[in-house]
Amino acid sequence: MKPLSVMLSMLAIGITSSTAMAAGAVLPIPSLPYVSPANSDLANRGAYIARAADCVACHGEDYTGGSPIETPMGAIYSTNITPSKRYGIGNYTEADLKKVLKEGRTPDHMLYPAMPYPSYNGMTDEDISALFAHLQTVPAVDMAPEHKTDLPFPFNFRILMLGWNAINIPSTENRDGLTQTQQRGEYLVNNLEHCGTCHTPRNSTMGFDNDMYLSGAPLGNWHAPNITPDKSSGIGSWSEQDIVTYLRTGELDQRAYAGGPMGEAVAHSTRYLKDEDLGAIASYLKAVPAIETEDKVTAVDASRLPSPVSESITHDLIAQKDYLAQAKASVGGGSNSPEALYLAACGSCHGVNGYAQPDARYAPIVGLSSIRRDKPDALINVIVHGIDGATNTSPKMPGFAEDLTSEQIAGVANYVRVNFGGLQNSDVSAAEVDRVMTAKPDQPFLIKYAGFLATLGIIVALIIIAFIIRGIIRSRRRG
Ligand code: HEC
Ligand code: HEC
Ligand code: HEC
Repeated sequence: MKPLSVMLSMLAIGITSSTAMAAGAVLPIPSLPYVSPANSDLANRGAYIARAADCVACHGEDYTGGSPIETPMGAIYSTNITPSKRYGIGNYTEADLKKVLKEGRTPDHMLYPAMPYPSYNGMTDEDISALFAHLQTVPAVDMAPEHKTDLPFPFNFRILMLGWNAINIPSTENRDGLTQTQQRGEYLVNNLEHCGTCHTPRNSTMGFDNDMYLSGAPLGNWHAPNITPDKSSGIGSWSEQDIVTYLRTGELDQRAYAGGPMGEAVAHSTRYLKDEDLGAIASYLKAVPAIETEDKVTAVDASRLPSPVSESITHDLIAQKDYLAQAKASVGGGSNSPEALYLAACGSCHGVNGYAQPDARYAPIVGLSSIRRDKPDALINVIVHGIDGATNTSPKMPGFAEDLTSEQIAGVANYVRVNFGGLQNSDVSAAEVDRVMTAKPDQPFLIKYAGFLATLGIIVALIIIAFIIRGIIRSRRRG
C-alpha cells in the first residue's frame, strides 16, 4: 500500500530519532515534506495543515489516492487529489475545496463520510486557503487510482448523504471554559486531526456518539482505547508530557505503544506537529469529561515488571541469540508450555524478557497498556493478525492464526500479560480467542436496515403512485 520510497524515508527517520532518544536529547521533529523556499509562505503553512489534518493517511504521501477505507457497506477508495486536471483536483477553485472539506460535496457529487468532512467542517478559512495553496504545489500525477468505489444499493445513491449530513454535521461542539491553549487543542483534536473518527464510538446513524466522546471504539481488528482522563479505563494517569512523547515518537517507555492505525497516525501526522501544538492537544485531552468504561486497564506495577537483560547482551546480536537459546533449553513444562511457546514464537523479536532488541527497533512490549487491559481482545487480535508497523521499521509482525491453536494463543497471551504486563493473573481462554477470531465488526442499526428501509420506501412510493394513477383513471372515466 505504501510506496517503497516512503518506507525508506521512514526508515531513515526511525534511525535518527532512535539514536537521538538513546542520547537523551530533546525529541527532534522530522522535517516537513513538501516545504520549500521556492513555495509561498502560505503554501508552506498549508503543508503543515495537511500533516495536521492527516490527508496523507488516506490519499497517500504523493496524494494519488487509491487506499481502501473498509466500511460495513464495502470499501470506499480515496481519490487522486494532485493538481492533475483530468484525474485529480486541478480544476478546483478554493471555494470547491472549501465545499469538499465543510460539506462533503465535490463540484459533481456528494462524498461519503469516509472522507472525514464531518470533522473538517470546523476548519478555519485561513487553514483552507493555506491547504489549497499547498495542494497546487505538489506534482500532478495523471493517473486514476486502481480501484473505484462501488457500494451496493442503496448506498450507491450518494444523494442519501444529504440526509445523513443534516443529522450529523457539525460532528462536535466547542466546549465552554477552555483556556486559549485548550481551544487550540480542541481545534486540532476535533477538526484537523479528527482523533474522534477512531476514538469516539458511533451512534445508530454512524455519526459520533458524543455522550461517549473519545471513550474508545472498535476499529476492525483493532480497538482505539479510551483517551479521556478517566483513571481506571482512560489515560488519567498520563501526564501532559507523556501524551506529547507518545504522539511525537509513538512510544511511551514501559507504558504504551502506537501500533496499527495509531502507528499510522503518528507516522504520517502527529510526529510532525510543533511542540506547542502537541502540548495544546495534551492540555485539551486533560480537560475533556472523564468517561469510565468497562474496559479497565490495570496500572503499571513497576515492581512486577521483568528486569532488562544486561547492556552487553542487549547490544550484541550474537549474545542475544545465545541468551535466547539458553532460555529455550532451560524452559520447564515441555514444548507446549506458554513460556516455551512465547520463546519459540515471539522471543526472537521481542526478546526473552520482552524488552526486544533496541538496536533492531522491534517493539519492546514490557508494561504496554495493550497487555494490561481487562479485555484481552486487542492483544489477541495482534497475535492472530500480526501488525505491519508504521513508525517501526523492523520486519513486520506475522499473524499466528495458522501456526498456533486457540489454546496456545490463549497461553501465550496469559504469559505476556502476567510476565510483561505485571498483572496478578490472567485467564484468557481458548473460547475467548475463538470469539475474537470469529467476531464480525458491529453493523450500526441504520446500515443493517437501510437496504430494507430503502426497499420499503420504494414499495410505499409505488403504492402511492398506483393510487394516484387509479385516481387519474377514475376521474377520466367520470369525466
Ligand atoms: C480517513 C481518510 C481520509 C482523509 C484523512 C482525507 N481524505 Fe479526502 N477522501 C477520502 C475518501 C475515501 C474520498 C472519496 C470519498 C468518496 O468517494 O465519496 C476522499 C475524497 C476527497 C476529495 C474529493 C476528490 C474528488 O473530486 O473526487 C478531496 C478534494 C479530498 N478528499 C481532499 C482531502 C484533503 C485536502 C484532506 C486533508 C485535509 C483529506 N482529503 C483527508 C479519504 C480521506
Ligand atoms: C486511525 C485511527 C486512529 C486515529 C486517527 C487516532 N488514533 Fe489514537 N489510537 C488508535 C488505536 C488503534 C490505538 C491503540 C494502539 C495500540 O495499542 O497499539 C490508539 C492509541 C492511542 C493512545 C494510547 C492509549 C493507551 O491507553 O495506550 C493515545 C493517547 C491516543 N491514541 C491518542 C490519539 C490522539 C490524541 C489522536 C488524534 C491526534 C489519535 N489518537 C488519533 C487509533 C487512532
Ligand atoms: C518478526 C518479529 C516479530 C514476532 C515473531 C512477533 N512480533 Fe510482536 N511485534 C513486532 C513488531 C515489529 C511490532 C510493532 C509493530 C508496529 O510498530 O506497529 C510488534 C508489536 C507487538 C505488540 C504491541 C501491540 C501494541 O500495539 O500495543 C505485542 C503485544 C506483540 N507484538 C506481541 C507478540 C507476541 C505475543 C508474539 C508471539 C506470539 C509476537 N509479538 C511475535 C514483531 C514481532
